[in-house]
Order: sequence, then C-alpha cells, then structure tokens
Amino acid sequence: MNTEHRPEVLISSREIATTIDRLATEISRDYLGKEPLLLGILKGSFMFMADLIRRLDFQLEVDFVRLSSYGRGTESSGKIQVVQGLRTIVRDREVLVIEDIIDTGLTVAYLLEYLRKKRPASLRLCTLLDKPSRRRVPVPIDYLGTTIPDRFLVGYGLDYDERFRNLPDVCVLEDNE
Ligand code: IMP
Ligand code: MG
Repeated sequence: MNTEHRPEVLISSREIATTIDRLATEISRDYLGKEPLLLGILKGSFMFMADLIRRLDFQLEVDFVRLSSYGRGTESSGKIQVVQGLRTIVRDREVLVIEDIIDTGLTVAYLLEYLRKKRPASLRLCTLLDKPSRRRVPVPIDYLGTTIPDRFLVGYGLDYDERFRNLPDVCVLEDNE
C-alpha cells in the first residue's frame, strides 16, 4: 500500500458489527417467512452482504448487480452503467437492495427505478453508510446503518482506485477540510 495515504479509522470493525446486529434485527422482524431476495450492489457491498446475511436466520436468496458510476477517483461522474446485470427473476419477489454507502444517491436511485419496472412485490433499501450532505436526488432508506460526514471513506469493501477494500474498519483516506 502507498504510505502517503494512511487511512484513519472512522468506524471500527467492532462498531460495524454492532450496527449490523441492529440492522439484522430490524430486517428479520420485517422479512421473517417472506423469503426475500437480497440484492447487493457490487463491488462495495460484498463485505457488508457477507456479514449481514450470516445474522439472518431465515430463508433468503442473494444476488448482485454491478453498477459503475465513479470510474477512478473520489467524485461521482453521475453517469450510471449496469456492468453486470441481474440473474434472478425480480417480478413478485420481496426485494431488499443492499448498498455500502449512499452519497449523491444517483447510483441507488437509478437501480431502484430499474428494479421498480420489473414489478417486485416490494422494494426496500438497506445501506450501511449514508452521506446525506452530498445528496443530489432523494433516496428513501428503509434500513440505515450509520450517517457519516462528507469524507471520502475506504475499507470494509469501500475502495479508492480499487485499493483498501480489505481494511477491516471504515477509514478516512484523507482529511479534505
Ligand atoms: P452515489 O451514486 O454518489 O450515491 O455513489 C454511490 C457509490 O459510490 C457507492 O456505491 C460507492 O461505491 C461509491 N462511493 C460513494 N462514496 C464513497 C466513499 O466515500 N468511498 C468509497 N466509495 C464511495
Ligand atoms: Mg457501491
């Protein structure tokens, strides 16, 4: 790793675990007996998905879609592309979208619209992190982990130019104040 960037811990792995315990309790209460489809947005949500579903003790299905908006760097381009689409039938399913972080909201707003057209029985959104200060389109969050300030974060699945996804904590890459 580049030693110029020393990520500082913002949310420790222990705090992440506590947050996911709470989210799992909320999700279990709502989806028990419904066999939902949990749909993760790649790549960032893979670690969150893995930890979340281990705490869900009921029948469910998992799929992923890959969308790209950022390209390389820390600013969203605003142009969303489906890079790898759904392999599961969504129609009449209880669909729960799993996202790592919502920033401008453009990525998830695009995906929710795309899924709504496929007529799921229900469509909800769970995100581990929310950066509301940079929102450009409104996004209804049904299950929210932690609200964070406007900092560029890495670790726990989040990357900067494809690096740092493997850090166990959510870290701040650099102070942009
Ligand atoms: P949005 O479309 O601006 O809401 O961006 C959402 C996507 O951008 C997320 O799914 C992340 O993959 C990525 N992203 C947003 N903020 C950060 C960050 O602070 N660190 C790393 N990736 C981020
Ligand atoms: Mg993402």
